[in-house]
Amino acid sequence: MQRTEALARISDEPGHTTRLFASPAMRRANKLVGTWMSQAGMSTREDAIGNLRGRYDAAPGSPCGDKLFLLGSHLDTVRNAGRFDGALGVLLAIGCVEALHRSKLRLPFALEVVGFADEEGVRYQTAYLGSKALAGGFDAKDLQRRDGNGLTMADAIRRFGGNPGALRQARLSPRNLLGYFEAHIEQGPVLEKRGVPVGVVSAIAGQSRVSLEFRGTAGHAGTVPMGSRQDALAGAAEFVLAAERCGVIATVGVLEIKGAASNVIPGCVHLTLDARDANDSRRRLAVSRLRREAQAIAKRRGLRVQWTAVQATPAVACDNALSRRLSECVARQGIKVVNLPSGAGHDAAVMASITPVAMLFLRCAGGISHHPAESVQTRDVKLALDVMVDFLHAVGRALDEPQPGADAPHPFPLPIGWGEGGRRPGEGLSHAANAGPERARALPGQRHSAPARRHS
Ligand code: GLV
Ligand code: MN
Ligand code: MN
Repeated sequence: MQRTEALARISDEPGHTTRLFASPAMRRANKLVGTWMSQAGMSTREDAIGNLRGRYDAAPGSPCGDKLFLLGSHLDTVRNAGRFDGALGVLLAIGCVEALHRSKLRLPFALEVVGFADEEGVRYQTAYLGSKALAGGFDAKDLQRRDGNGLTMADAIRRFGGNPGALRQARLSPRNLLGYFEAHIEQGPVLEKRGVPVGVVSAIAGQSRVSLEFRGTAGHAGTVPMGSRQDALAGAAEFVLAAERCGVIATVGVLEIKGAASNVIPGCVHLTLDARDANDSRRRLAVSRLRREAQAIAKRRGLRVQWTAVQATPAVACDNALSRRLSECVARQGIKVVNLPSGAGHDAAVMASITPVAMLFLRCAGGISHHPAESVQTRDVKLALDVMVDFLHAVGRALDEPQPGADAPHPFPLPIGWGEGGRRPGEGLSHAANAGPERARALPGQRHSAPARRHS
């Protein structure tokens, strides 16, 4: 818990916690967290995009010594963030390795702890940059995106000490991966209401991010009659209300009036839409209806609207076999097993495109998150750590279990099309820039949106 406080003090903005991708605060955060990783017995490095990676080798002579299990979460934050979103998952992962190291224990497989460089997508408006680089879903076109100060992502990565030309080297081959595990605060009220300290995540909602601009005509606030205005903000306001009624979880989180002044009719407004649902078809339908609604609003008001799809990430189901083992570990602590879906996005959603994933949620006070009041109980954190260490041992035991009919046993069977000769790393992702259809593992009761693409 002291570490979460030390990390929260590392910020790009004075007085509160804001750590943006490839920023000076991230540089200091990686240094500090890297020190903790080294103290826990890991060898550390930073990859080409700035993910912090700590490795704890397998037991010498283990027949599965080339296999790798990943633990992680993100070290970037939203603006004016709490202390636990992302950071807690990384610190718990380090805590697990520390516990093994203190007991002079090595697992039959190697562990890698990842502090992802960007999950929130605050600086470049597109999320999961760190995990996309690892999973192979990074789109090189994103390197030309500019931040609020006009700095391209490529230059920001270079300034940070990374190498935008070598992002492919950050990729992990799915062949040797056993799985990915992420602990995270729940960011919602369910666990607190159910009176349990931790819960097992069943699925992560898909999300769409859109950037919009309404353009009208700026004019004098005192002279242009109300009936002959093309007020871009009035159009944007109608769109905000349409988003509120669209039938899925939807948020307009950015609303910027260009050249705003109290005596000028707004001529141009930029806004963002973030839409989420566990059902991909429902989300896509809601977003396309909102697009038509934006066009209708613009037509009625004599405005022009520009709609730019920024990102679309499909819903992801957590792996059944890994989650079952995780549930057993929760039950062994005498805790009632609660399964719950995640409305928030997590690095696990991207990692699921190359390896089976499992997630553990920790209850947080009042379900508050993306806010400085984020809070968790120390005893819940201790319990989560015990669950995680037990889980890693369970993953090790699973390697010894016979897998009927398999030459090279994989204890957590990959979905059809994964692994060697199957789906490419990162292929489960989709965003506007690579213009592919979203592909993901179907959630229960949901059909695949598109057949899995095969590669020769
Ligand atoms: C990340 O916290 C997200 O869900 O947007
Ligand atoms: Mn977050
Ligand atoms: Mn997070």
